[in-house]
Amino acid sequence: GSGGASSLERTLAMIKPDGVSGNYSDLIKRIIVEASFNIVKEMLTLLDEQTASAFYLEHSSRTFFPHLVTYMTSGPVLVMVLEKRNAVSDWRGLIGPTDAQKAKISHPHSIRALCGKDLQRNCVHGSDSTSSAEREIKFFFKDVVSGDVASQHDEL
Ligand code: TYD
Ligand code: MG
Repeated sequence: GSGGASSLERTLAMIKPDGVSGNYSDLIKRIIVEASFNIVKEMLTLLDEQTASAFYLEHSSRTFFPHLVTYMTSGPVLVMVLEKRNAVSDWRGLIGPTDAQKAKISHPHSIRALCGKDLQRNCVHGSDSTSSAEREIKFFFKDVVSGDVASQHDEL
């Protein structure tokens, strides 16, 4: 395809341990489908320390990193590949700001406001760019790629 701002995209979404253990998975998936995303792939998995550290490698020098890894390995996560036009930015818009406490004030209808607790335990993940989406989708699903997928449906 030709790409561009409104081409069909894929992004990586994850329901984090507090979201899964708090039984928010079905509600979040309903919000996803109602927002016209197609759930292309999904996988319930328990991240080990090495996997969680590699996924969040960009944050490895931050003071919160050890706590982030402990949190992300504290229980199962639901990893999903979502597809729609503008999937990356639309999913980021739907989940809201990183700090769930602030999201409850500024974006009360966002998913993080709905099920997140604070800056760390914010319930869901979303890729922050199309290049991050491509990396993160490959990280979990080696047989699926992001970006313009118009010619890739026969691979699914
Ligand atoms: P970041 O990529 O900045 O946020 P987002 O998930 O919105 O892309 O940070 C990754 C995760 O790290 C974030 O979801 C929660 C955690 N985190 C903390 O625990 N403390 C912090 O100060 C920040 C910035 C993030
Ligand atoms: Mg991020």
